[in-house]
Amino acid sequence: MAELTPKPEHKFTFGLWTVGHKGNDPFGVETRPGVRPPDTVRKLAELGAYGVCFHDDDLLPPDADDSERERIKADFVEALDETGMKVSMATTNLFTHPVFKDGAFTANDREVRRYALQKVIRSIDVGAELGAPVYVFWGGREGVEADAAKPARDALERYREAIDFLCGYVRDRGYDMRFALEPKPNEPRGDIFLPTVGHMLAFIERLEHPEMVGVNPEVAHETMAGLSFLHGVAQALWAGKLFHIDLNAQRIGRYDQDFRFGAVGLKDAFFLVKLLEDSGYDGVRHFDARPLRVESEEGIWDFAAGCMHTYLALKERAAKWGSDRAILAAEADAKVPELALDTVGPYSPELAEELLAEAHDLDALGARECRNERLDQLAVDLILGLR
Ligand code: GCO
Ligand code: MN
Ligand code: MN
Repeated sequence: MAELTPKPEHKFTFGLWTVGHKGNDPFGVETRPGVRPPDTVRKLAELGAYGVCFHDDDLLPPDADDSERERIKADFVEALDETGMKVSMATTNLFTHPVFKDGAFTANDREVRRYALQKVIRSIDVGAELGAPVYVFWGGREGVEADAAKPARDALERYREAIDFLCGYVRDRGYDMRFALEPKPNEPRGDIFLPTVGHMLAFIERLEHPEMVGVNPEVAHETMAGLSFLHGVAQALWAGKLFHIDLNAQRIGRYDQDFRFGAVGLKDAFFLVKLLEDSGYDGVRHFDARPLRVESEEGIWDFAAGCMHTYLALKERAAKWGSDRAILAAEADAKVPELALDTVGPYSPELAEELLAEAHDLDALGARECRNERLDQLAVDLILGLR
């Protein structure tokens, strides 16, 4: 089916660290050699992706000297130019090196905090040079195992200070770049600060330039916390803060699994795709997932193609929703359209009077039919391709 063929207009992107992952995990070493960034660009372009993103160290090894950095960038840009692929986002590795073992922006050691800012600024410059419109902050090491060793309010204040400083830098340089903060509840730290989309949205409101900062929610992260990812994304959209999204799959209550999009939780994935498509979200659909450790070269690209294919298949299913008469009728029975109507409107003394004068038959209201079961079953049938 033509609509299941990924094309750049679908805005699918992958991190260099995703398809490039070498299969190492906390218990085992690498199972494959990884993929060079220019090869990643060419192969993903062939599969129909729109762009790639990277951590500073994914593209430019930390020990590379200036001439090597320039050579690597030139090879990468050559692949981008040749394929038309875009750099959709850039970010910083603030977690691998032991210097970040106690955090980066929230490390107790002030020199580490200053080094972290320096590393981010250098990486923002590379992102801007390569045209990244979004810069992601995932604070994987910004957390704690021993609460006695890190007062959380001080840590949050240092986090705020760092993001404010970096917003200042981007504005000062005149870069056309927005920030997207990525929450995660735990792993690698016992508890990570700003663990959910909700925490992050509240944090952003206390920044100096909240308008340039949004969120980068990830399926796996809200799911690990036992929360509804759909609702996290809905709240981000409602707040005008969905600047980026990390799509993958995850079973609830497990370690961070980073499965191929749709690999588990197909019904949740369907409602997520439907939400993104219905909302008019025009950002990238970024897959932050990893090929299974058992895979080699071929399997890496099966994985990448599978992420995009499942998204498009669910999008095709979701597009049927609005023209399915039985579903529309069931929605009407469940009073779904009524939720979009004002309850009372903005406050006025007259409206309050009117409200107070109303009589309600609570027995009748309490006994009304909602018919959620039927609507939910129709949704299942639609997803299964039975409608
Ligand atoms: C994780 C995170 C990371 C970030 C990445 C970009 O759980 O490891 O999802 O993959 O998304 O570092 O900031
Ligand atoms: Mn993750
Ligand atoms: Mn992520």
